[in-house]
Amino acid sequence: MGSRILGCGSALPALRVTNDDLSRVVDTSDEWIAKRTGIRARHIAVEETATDLGVSACQKALEDAGVDAGQIDLIVCTTGTPDALFPSQAALIRAGLGAVNAVCFDLNAACAGCVYALTTAHSLLQTMPGMRRALVVGSERMSRAVDWTDRATCVLFGDGAGAVVLERCDDDQGVLASVLKNEDDVDDVLRANSLYAGDFPFTAEGVAERTAEQIAAQSEAGGQTMEEALASTTCVGDAPLLLMKGREVFKFATRVMPEVLQEACDQAGVAVEDLAVVIPHQANERIISYAAKKLGLPLERFHMVIQETGNTSSASVFMALDDARRAGRIQPGQLIGMTGFGAGLTAGAVVLRA
Ligand code: UT7
Repeated sequence: MGSRILGCGSALPALRVTNDDLSRVVDTSDEWIAKRTGIRARHIAVEETATDLGVSACQKALEDAGVDAGQIDLIVCTTGTPDALFPSQAALIRAGLGAVNAVCFDLNAACAGCVYALTTAHSLLQTMPGMRRALVVGSERMSRAVDWTDRATCVLFGDGAGAVVLERCDDDQGVLASVLKNEDDVDDVLRANSLYAGDFPFTAEGVAERTAEQIAAQSEAGGQTMEEALASTTCVGDAPLLLMKGREVFKFATRVMPEVLQEACDQAGVAVEDLAVVIPHQANERIISYAAKKLGLPLERFHMVIQETGNTSSASVFMALDDARRAGRIQPGQLIGMTGFGAGLTAGAVVLRA
């Protein structure tokens, strides 16, 4: 038994921000960003939520697959930037789609989330009686996680969503092999702090005495109602959200991407050269180029959308897969590799037959 991809979809926010546009925000240039990363533009969600983007990508994937929302049994959403801590992003997308028969939950494996989510959905389709079709979706608003004063990181990321419809099948088609890998991030090379780090009415000794006065003072000074002041004491970020040691992440990525893809090919019993298309995590064109060289594959085999999207974290592989399919690059029967890496540290690869 296996599970195969029936359809794909993706969604980008309306606002397109070029490298030149960004040079008005931080001290950077189109030349630096393009040369070091391959990124030319990214899309920023000003009005769109992660739910809007996720729902839109899923609707396109459902349409591509010829499946109704009511026929979906499972939704796995991978995200590090959900609209809410709870309900899950998957639950919000489920409601937006009207996928009334779906079991749903989120999964966070940072930028490798796509591979983890696909593997999880594939496994559940094999083992849960009655589960036949899944939506696997990555939806990210990285623009809300980056520090817009840090030029070394803010220029890299973008917003977007990508989705696939996965269906259990009786033959050994679709997903052939999956490799998931974790290492401790001992040097804190990639981290995004939680949002709920603001005023907290407790100390290690107990309730903080001054909290009530502070809230009252804040209310007076800001012309806020007490309810507004109380609400604003939670969910305040007091530290840069996304912190990254770029060179260390680069080293990790260039080491593990070829490793996991090779392992997944070995597990599937196919040669790396037999992969017609590889869909890598879209973090940096130079990382992808390095991985291609290490695997002995021409760079043209690796499908990229990074020029237009930047790094959309766990949505990036699904978005690139959708682009490749719509561009006619993926034909039935071909072997496809998908691979990602990210904070955690996480890495993974999937090999499937289209
Ligand atoms: O999804 C996973 C997330 N992350 C990644 O995959 C990131 C992996 N790492 C990378 O892609 C690269 O390390 C970066 C693209 C982030 C940086 O490239 P780099 O070649 O490692 O540059 P660097 O950090 O060593 O910086 C080189 C120079 C520095 O100036 P000095 O010290 O040489 O004078 C930086 O201050 O470039 C400067 N710099 C910039 N200049 C213009 C850093 N960011 C910028 C910028 N514009 N945006």
